[in-house]
Amino acid sequence: MSTFPLRLRELALGARVALTALVLAFGIGLAASAWHLVDHHQNRDEQPGVSLEDLEGAYHGVNTTAPLVSALERGHPESLKAGDRELLLKWLRSGRIVEDYDNFDLGDSAPEGLLRANCLSCHARNATTGDGIGARVPLEYFDDVKKLAFSKSVAPVPTRVLVASTHAHALSLAAMSIVIGFLLLATRWPGALRNGLFALAGLGLLGDLAGWWLARSSASFVPLIVASGATYAMATALSLALIGLELWLPKRPE
Ligand code: HEC
Repeated sequence: MSTFPLRLRELALGARVALTALVLAFGIGLAASAWHLVDHHQNRDEQPGVSLEDLEGAYHGVNTTAPLVSALERGHPESLKAGDRELLLKWLRSGRIVEDYDNFDLGDSAPEGLLRANCLSCHARNATTGDGIGARVPLEYFDDVKKLAFSKSVAPVPTRVLVASTHAHALSLAAMSIVIGFLLLATRWPGALRNGLFALAGLGLLGDLAGWWLARSSASFVPLIVASGATYAMATALSLALIGLELWLPKRPE
């Protein structure tokens, strides 16, 4: 049985005021980190909020082929003339998907016309051929088409940036967590709670940092980053709250 030699509540008023201010400062830092995380990562996939895909883009990179491209490349539909297939693929790879969809200047080779002539017999909402594919995957309007037209390629953060970030975070967060952990040990709360939170913070930080690097080779580690990061943040926030309470709750009669 180890009993920690110090209880924060026993400290003099000045020290408790100082510790309270510093705990709040840690809290502000934590909130700023959360804000930075959302701000920094959310725009990778053009959807608001941080998604797993945003993080995958950052730590692993994302490379997806647009469904229209893969369908055309695998020879779907068989009825499509080779020249028209080329025109459609050229358009999808052109970087001018929006501009050229119904570009009048392209005449007969405008994608809108090609799609109407070659696809809508099955891919219209009320099409009678194609086993109902038209209801599931319609290609009637640009709003339908654009959902399937864009390939995505997001490069992960450069190694150099990840090294700098690891260096900054690993050293400062590990030091911070050791301090918070020792402060937590010097509180009145049950041993399981104090030691448990300390352990969670340590493992969370290690898992997060390791995840950053492991995710570069396999995207399956991206959830590890999320789970460890969340564990770390929650264990730290809760530790700070428990330390704050310890400092100002009435002393416990021994
Ligand atoms: C004869 C009917 C028919 C025609 C014509 C046709 N399709 Fe399809 N399409 C299907 C069917 C059935 C499926 C579902 C089975 C499959 O994937 O092959 C499908 C699937 C697809 C998919 C995959 C959808 C998904 O699940 O992501 C895409 C993309 C697609 N078609 C694009 C096109 C385009 C572009 C054209 C015209 C150039 C076209 N199709 C013409 C019947 C058709």
